[in-house]
Amino acid sequence: MDSIRVALLGHGTVGSSLHQLLVEHREHVRAATQRDVEVTAVLVRDVDRARPGLDPTTTLVTDSLEELLASKPDVVCEAMGGIEPTREYLLALLDRGIPVVTANKQLVARHGTELFARAAAARTQLRFEASVCGAVPIVRMLRESLAATRIECLLGILNGTTNYMLSAMAANGTSYADALATAQDLGYAEPDPTEDVEGIDAAAKLSILAGIAFGTTVDVDDVRTTGISGVTADDVAHAHVLGARIKLVARAERLLAPGGGHTIALDVTPMLVPERHPLAAISGATNAVLVDGAPFGQLVVQGAGAGGPETASALAGDLVSVLGSEPSFLTSDPHVAHLAVAPRDARSERHYVRMRVADRPGVLAAVAGALAAHGVSIERVIQQRAEGADGTGASEASLVLTTHPCAPGDLETALATVESADRTVLPMLDAPEAAS
Ligand code: NAP
Ligand code: HSE
Repeated sequence: MDSIRVALLGHGTVGSSLHQLLVEHREHVRAATQRDVEVTAVLVRDVDRARPGLDPTTTLVTDSLEELLASKPDVVCEAMGGIEPTREYLLALLDRGIPVVTANKQLVARHGTELFARAAAARTQLRFEASVCGAVPIVRMLRESLAATRIECLLGILNGTTNYMLSAMAANGTSYADALATAQDLGYAEPDPTEDVEGIDAAAKLSILAGIAFGTTVDVDDVRTTGISGVTADDVAHAHVLGARIKLVARAERLLAPGGGHTIALDVTPMLVPERHPLAAISGATNAVLVDGAPFGQLVVQGAGAGGPETASALAGDLVSVLGSEPSFLTSDPHVAHLAVAPRDARSERHYVRMRVADRPGVLAAVAGALAAHGVSIERVIQQRAEGADGTGASEASLVLTTHPCAPGDLETALATVESADRTVLPMLDAPEAAS
């Protein structure tokens, strides 16, 4: 039986889990591939650190790509993260015709086109299932299972850290800071949690998924991105009163362009998701993706979106796929067209607004007047006394309102004329239509 030599770039949370999986599930891998798969080389930063499960007398442990190349790997699995030198390393591997499997969403999102081109030129493969939604096989579902369909909209909870945090804030009234500390302790957060909480991680994942779903080049900087750092425990509680949950939703939608044809609207933003919506029930570090299109209707997939073993299972699946296939249209650059990005106000939707205002006659009328002047219609109003900045509780009110569908720009212009503090504005997702 042939033996396959696998090299790992990175032996941290994900890389060490992949190594362990390939050892513990050796029989499953052999049954699937009819080959023995051996980890023969590992690239790390610190070669002197002792690492459980890694024996440097039998496996090359190096910080040099040249040494790793000299070990003649058949396939390389990348779980070191970052853009450079990772990009440079992957290009060197692909140029030599060595297939690469990666978990690196930022690299695929920002440099996918270059990497795919070099893989194609060398007649080899770049696989990236593990870069989006951990264990959930969403890349394969979009690329293969739904390849002959027309996708209209993709909605996702693509970041486990923020979903864990928002779930904890909703379940226990936990503060934002405490929820973040626990998510970091549990190992969900990226080394720098800014990528998670500011939506940067989810935007990279959305650009990868949207690129496949719509077959279009997507510049990750075209994803309008708002994180959850402005969401307070108050907002989470108010959402509950309104029959909704706050979720960091990644959304890619095909819209009709005014002059004909289509554009694509791309955003990552906290949204009020009605309790009846399939994404409202996704809690903890779970990821989920809802795909809507024809002729299949709606599909929802969910599962563990982060964590070493979970992500390793997706890397190992891609490794098996590489061993069982030749480079083809299924492994080449999925971006075959270019859809223009829709302007922000291309879509009208309902909004939630919470603000702290002075509790005196005429304030509510002034807010209503400002909104009316910009064509924004109020759907619902809740006003509660708020403890004033001076602690007296007499002078301020927390004003929560929801709007009928309006363009976000009109709402923003209207609110700019209103005097208020501590303001949150979030779009609201519509409930799914009831089955007739
Ligand atoms: P990690 O624990 O920080 O591990 C990174 C590994 O890469 C370490 O072994 C590190 O070496 C090595 N490394 C980093 N820079 C290097 C360099 N310049 N040269 C040589 N080795 C280098 O990170 P991780 O959480 O496993 O994440 C790895 C990748 O998987 C990232 O792209 C991440 O976005 C992605 N991912 C992670 C998760 C997750 O749940 N953690 C889920 C999905 C995708 P040392 O050990 O010597 O420091
Ligand atoms: N930090 C990421 C998350 C890990 O929380 O989803 C998976 O990419």
